[in-house]
Amino acid sequence: MERLPGFRDFYPEPLPHSDVSSIEGRNFLFARWREMARRYGFAEYDAPPLEPVELYTTKSGQEIVNQLYCFTDKGNREVSLRPEITPSLARLVAAHNRHYKKPLKWFSIPQLFRYERQQKGRLREHFQFNADIIGEPTPVAEAELIALLIDSLRAFGLTSEDFRIRLSSRGAWQQFLAQNQVPPEHHESFYLVIDKIERAPREQTEQQLKSFGLSLESVDAFIENGAPTPDLEQILANLSNRGLADYVRLDYRVIRGLAYYTGVVFEAFDQKGNFRAIAGGGRYDNLVKLISNNKVDLPALGFGMGDVVLFELLKDRGLLPPLAPGLTAYCLIEDEQLREASLSLIQTLRDANVQVDYSLTPLKPDKQFKRALESHAEYTVKLERNENGTLSARLRNLASREEKRLAPSEVAQAISRRA
Ligand code: HAM
Repeated sequence: MERLPGFRDFYPEPLPHSDVSSIEGRNFLFARWREMARRYGFAEYDAPPLEPVELYTTKSGQEIVNQLYCFTDKGNREVSLRPEITPSLARLVAAHNRHYKKPLKWFSIPQLFRYERQQKGRLREHFQFNADIIGEPTPVAEAELIALLIDSLRAFGLTSEDFRIRLSSRGAWQQFLAQNQVPPEHHESFYLVIDKIERAPREQTEQQLKSFGLSLESVDAFIENGAPTPDLEQILANLSNRGLADYVRLDYRVIRGLAYYTGVVFEAFDQKGNFRAIAGGGRYDNLVKLISNNKVDLPALGFGMGDVVLFELLKDRGLLPPLAPGLTAYCLIEDEQLREASLSLIQTLRDANVQVDYSLTPLKPDKQFKRALESHAEYTVKLERNENGTLSARLRNLASREEKRLAPSEVAQAISRRA
């Protein structure tokens, strides 16, 4: 039985095959994301992986709706695996926003499902670090969020040589469209053309723009000469005050494919241009209102950063640390008469918060030692019976090869002092 295309199996290290993913690699990303979100004062939330399909059909736009994993459940409900968490977040916030002081700064690391064409950097399942600020209408929120995005990438050792945040605004495009008499009901499909402008053939874009009464030259000229809107100017100045200006650049080619964005939008890309977007986000001031049927009206903005492109990028730049987890101690049981006493020692060590492993069944001493090395243990510990019948423990530091004889009761302390 094979796994479905576009899905991943996560194995422990060392990996058995190049075709599988590392759970340690995944944990490494999650730990850095969480740490940085907390450093910026964001609180964690989650929502169900399965939602009513209407949560996405009216709000996220056609592109994502075409990629839904949706079906009718046994209770005849139309449901979908979540392709993104933003609509769920809007639902959670609308339901209980009065309970919290605004602005809310919330983050989550959901697994998401999109029936996409499989390609480099795009799978049918991925994990996404999401950070959103709800209840703050001014650009100080964009600046705070973009600073978090930059720091989340810097936390992995990436620098301004490696990535850039491309900053844009649907507000600027709306002015361009108004000047060119494109009616608001066509804006969403226009955004989808601009969203693909870098990847689609020029002639195709030219044709598509004609249907809006626009020329490719006028769009190119707007992208080339576009000056920052007042919002974008404030964001750039705010980031500059933090010393983060090098990480950001104005780029009106960024427009985002999701329908709900209303203002500033941005995407993070690698500088060499070898990968798909690392992250993307923007302001979506109407989504909470739409999802709550006009009951709650809160401005919001956020971003999502996927694990797939980020992991590839870190691998490419040699920024992944050794992923095999270490073990503190491996208990060698060479004399089966001492198994019961060894189990008691193992339990004492585990109670003292020491990671310990051992062979569940009798095994030749050299094989046990090999297991200790394979599990990257710092120490081996072995009980021995003294001539007078008492027990002592032989604690060996595998790196320095230094050995100590101790009373079994002293082992935990010796290890925790890294003696
Ligand atoms: P998105 O641009 O659709 O935005 O996704 C954000 C990031 O998730 C992408 O830049 C990419 O790294 C990753 N990603 C998306 N689809 C896939 C895929 N099929 N395979 C691997 N990685 C993928 C959103 O989802 C918005 N909800 C983000 C947001 C949060 N906006 C406001 N708050």
